[in-house]
Amino acid sequence: MRKRVLVFDSGVGGLSVLDAIVAAGAPVDLDYLADNAWLPYGDKTDDALRARVPALVAAAARDLASDCVVIACNTASTIALEAVRAAIAIPVIGVVPPVKPAVAASTTRAIGLLATPATIGRPYVDDLIGRFASGVDVRRVGTTALVDAAERKLAGETPSAQAIDEAIAALFAGEIGTRIDVVALACTHFPLLRDELAGAAPRAVLWLDSGSAIARRVCDVLSLQQDGSARLRRAAFTHRDLAGAQWRAFAARGFSVASAVADAPNFEVRPIGDVGHA
Ligand code: DGL
Repeated sequence: MRKRVLVFDSGVGGLSVLDAIVAAGAPVDLDYLADNAWLPYGDKTDDALRARVPALVAAAARDLASDCVVIACNTASTIALEAVRAAIAIPVIGVVPPVKPAVAASTTRAIGLLATPATIGRPYVDDLIGRFASGVDVRRVGTTALVDAAERKLAGETPSAQAIDEAIAALFAGEIGTRIDVVALACTHFPLLRDELAGAAPRAVLWLDSGSAIARRVCDVLSLQQDGSARLRRAAFTHRDLAGAQWRAFAARGFSVASAVADAPNFEVRPIGDVGHA
């Protein structure tokens, strides 16, 4: 029996992690849950996310009979990972902002950290920087505009050049900016804009994300070799009307079955008849 992995994010960002799991040759069946009714998480309060995310993820994991959950969202991972773990009895893997590998890859001792405003100032991130980036200059930039840009790109629109340019200007300004050689992408939406970010940057730098580390972790936790191929099962959305626009990116990856998630407190996952062809 193949293991079922549920990949969770506020929107399409978790697809960057799903892509990495597929690319890693993880022999698993993949479901996806997008809390697009609440998108973006980056401007929600910690209390609101703590109250919502564990109940939502637990209900979906139950209905989809998941063997493992990936919280493919830095904003949710840095605030609600322990609460999700307490709510379900299966392994829960979170994304960690890739500060440690970014520092290891930097030769100039100056890195950028690009995340949502919620993630960027969290004690969790302060702690990561304190442990792994001492003596390193870290330029922190928080943006929700890039989350929206990634959502638009995957819905088939042109992502906002202004959002990209503003993030690049904030990252590369000043003396530290001239030395940055690695940027840690600490929001799962942002690897989906890697080409646009790299294209607007003043010079070539390394844009690092956590996708392949998560894919390895999934295989480790489920005791699987990275020698097979992943299969896509069901993509579930909390906002039924938005699922059509977002469905494009899921269909492009090979998902063929969509579901709607009911409102709190029960969050049941129910099939949607027509969105699979939108
Ligand atoms: N993709 C998410 C993250 O990694 C959340 C983006 C958002 O909803 O603000 O932080």
